Amino acid sequence: MVTRALDVVLLGPPGAGKGTQAKRLASTLSLLHISTGDLLREEVAKNTPLGQEAASYMQRGELVPDDLVAKMLLARLHTQQGLGGCVFDGYPRTQAQADLLDQLLAELGRRVDVAVYLEVPDEEVVARLGGRRWCPQCGAVYHVRTQPPAREGVCDVCGSELVVREDDREEVIRQRLAVYRSHTEPLLALYAQRGVLQRVDGLGTVEAIFARLKEAVKGSVAR
Ligand code: AP5
Repeated sequence: MVTRALDVVLLGPPGAGKGTQAKRLASTLSLLHISTGDLLREEVAKNTPLGQEAASYMQRGELVPDDLVAKMLLARLHTQQGLGGCVFDGYPRTQAQADLLDQLLAELGRRVDVAVYLEVPDEEVVARLGGRRWCPQCGAVYHVRTQPPAREGVCDVCGSELVVREDDREEVIRQRLAVYRSHTEPLLALYAQRGVLQRVDGLGTVEAIFARLKEAVKGSVAR
């Protein structure tokens, strides 16, 4: 349990395991998990005007425009639960988003305390995303080989049928990686300059990576 707000940004390429680790970290530290990817998929599933606009960008592996993402982020950040601090998963992805996050946190008397970079090579990204299965009902994430559900194709949590994410096709994965390199990777230098960047080896079991992640966060907060 944290006694003051703690804000953690998780950075890394698509498929690095940000979502898998962010959920665990948020639950262990009683923080709010904010995944802009999950929020966007909810909007798409509900077929809201925002979801309709976002869908075509997501299918192509492009970034959704900053102003659309900002609206969702604001709504989520200001929930009661968000006041204790957040794990930001998939946000920020551009310099403009990093600036907005700083501004929103500053308004709450907070800042990015630690930015963790989950380092995973491209070939592992392709293997992870190629085998990912996702529950469109509750958002649970599986992998056919490394984290299979108890019953093939069925969500352990809610019993719904698992699907392949539309943007997990090979050509879209390549595009998402390219967008990551050009727009998001430069943020590593930004957080390194501020002295809040922690690099964590993203290879190994989910448990081993989580242990490294917790150490990295604990180490930064203690400083
Ligand atoms: P988003 O959903 O955020 O996609 P992403 O960043 O590409 O990340 P992923 O969700 O693909 O992967 P992950 O790192 O969370 O890995 P996961 O834990 O699932 O965004 C999707 C789209 O929405 C974007 O392309 C963009 O269009 C839009 N969008 C979102 N945010 C935006 C923003 N801020 N601005 C603009 N547009 C935005 O793991 C992957 C797989 O690997 C799973 O199958 C998992 O089971 C498996 N796995 C995890 N850990 C391990 C391990 N240690 N060993 C083996 N397998 C593992």
